[in-house]
Amino acid sequence: MLLAYQSHTSRPAPFRSAVFPVSSRAMNPTTNIAVRAARQAGNVIMRSFSRLDSLTVSEKDVNDFVSEIDRNAENAILDTIHKAYPGHAILAEESGAHGKDDFQWIIDPLDGTTNYLHGFPQFAISIALTHRGRLESAVVYDPLRDEMFTADRGGGALLNDRRLRVTDQKVLKGALLGTGIPYRDQRYMDAYLGMLKDFTQETAGIRRPGSAALDFAYVAAGRLDGFWELGLSVWDFAAGALLVEEAGGVVSDIAGGSRHLETGNVIAANIRLHGKMVDTIRPHLP
Ligand code: IPD
Ligand code: CA
Ligand code: CA
Repeated sequence: MLLAYQSHTSRPAPFRSAVFPVSSRAMNPTTNIAVRAARQAGNVIMRSFSRLDSLTVSEKDVNDFVSEIDRNAENAILDTIHKAYPGHAILAEESGAHGKDDFQWIIDPLDGTTNYLHGFPQFAISIALTHRGRLESAVVYDPLRDEMFTADRGGGALLNDRRLRVTDQKVLKGALLGTGIPYRDQRYMDAYLGMLKDFTQETAGIRRPGSAALDFAYVAAGRLDGFWELGLSVWDFAAGALLVEEAGGVVSDIAGGSRHLETGNVIAANIRLHGKMVDTIRPHLP
């Protein structure tokens, strides 16, 4: 089976490890605080995962749901960050922007709310820290699997205590890509469907798991070869972008430029595959 697989694709082996053991390395203090905050939010989220029917849910916008859990998880994160860094500014999905400082925390307390509310086991907490707009610390935490993805600028990316590396998949043939299908803002639907069609025909498969933060973490961990989505908010992928970069990958906007944090239109992959993805998307650019 393994030999048959190898003979048809250019990748070395289906279970090539992108997670390497690492001797313990000191994390930045800010990343440690983000880990603590993510664990607190994870407790809030998991306590209610077995009683989803009793949650109060409201629709912020068309297909944009929020529950008391999103808000409680965000409060837990903010408490932890405020105690450690009372002067830092915040941009959080549910409570918006607070404070003015060179340091700003970018927080999605529950990424994958729709999954969570349906009991679909794919959601995460995403916390990033920027300094003068540059990403410095990142945490994406999957509380169901107890997987803590962390990155410090210049210090690499880890899954728990294992070092992460993007795959070396060089071509679309044989690649597994993640994506997000537009479900709120339909502006780019036709452009998106053109991209989806081409990638579906050229790759081994496309996955739409429903948590952009985890999609990026999975690119960093080599579980996905690449990812693209249009119309994300910065809190969906600020932490994920640093994870991918620190795992040796490239993150860009869909034209291959650097405006992804502003536009929310984003591609993440290893450098070779990233170029192939930009080429495939180019004819469909909105
Ligand atoms: C959503 C998830 C989803 C992506 C959406 C996001 P939310 O975040 O990341 O994968 O496709 O664009 O809004 O609303 O669950 O925090
Ligand atoms: Ca989100
Ligand atoms: Ca959210």
